[in-house]
Amino acid sequence: MAPAVAGVIAIVLLAAVASTLAVAGLSPDAVALQAFRIGLQDPDGVLQSWDPTLADPCTWFHIICDANNRVTHIMLGYSNLSGPLSPELAKLDQLRDMMVRASNIQGTIPEEFGNLGNLISLDLSNNSISGPIPASLGKLSALRFLDLSNNDLCGTIPTSGAFQNLPPSSFANNPRLRGPGQQQDDDGC
Ligand SMILES: *[C@@H]1O[C@H](CO)[C@@H](O)[C@H](O)[C@H]1NC(C)=O
Ligand SMILES: *[C@@H]1O[C@H](CO)[C@@H](O)[C@H](O)[C@H]1NC(C)=O
Repeated sequence: MAPAVAGVIAIVLLAAVASTLAVAGLSPDAVALQAFRIGLQDPDGVLQSWDPTLADPCTWFHIICDANNRVTHIMLGYSNLSGPLSPELAKLDQLRDMMVRASNIQGTIPEEFGNLGNLISLDLSNNSISGPIPASLGKLSALRFLDLSNNDLCGTIPTSGAFQNLPPSSFANNPRLRGPGQQQDDDGC
């Protein structure tokens, strides 16, 4: 077969697969979680149940939904996952509890997480997360519990909004993190 013909057939097949996925009607929550998953390494297969052909993610392990099949909880602990937190997770607008702790998550906390208006609890402790704490998290008016301890965060802890009611333990064991008013070294944050 001529390469050009093969190329056209491949494109037609790809279009067919894409339209099948569109017909399957993946929920926006499923799309957001798959965007997170695709950036992760998962040597122990803890996300094996995250079947991308299911319309919604409510039967996946480590995910809890409400009665409207919207994701309310992500519960991923002690799972040896590595890779970044996807900004797409901020599209889970019914999310109340994100627990991704004691793994090997790297990269920064996406500023977009400040849009998770229903988030009550955020636990990203015991990972390898770096960079500053986004001040946008201060917008999380429902937030009651934050645990960013045991990471590699840097810069100054924000003080606005939700940050006014959080104890110092939320930020413990981030050697390059400074409290408000503390001397800030130029440490490349
Ligand atoms: C975590 O994954 C790495 C490979 O990425 C492996 O070497 C290590 O043994 C795993 N640790 C646990 C506790 O499963
Ligand atoms: C988190 O890290 C600290 C310090 O290394 C350790 O003492 C603690 O047991 C860890 N917690 C979890 C849940 O792994």
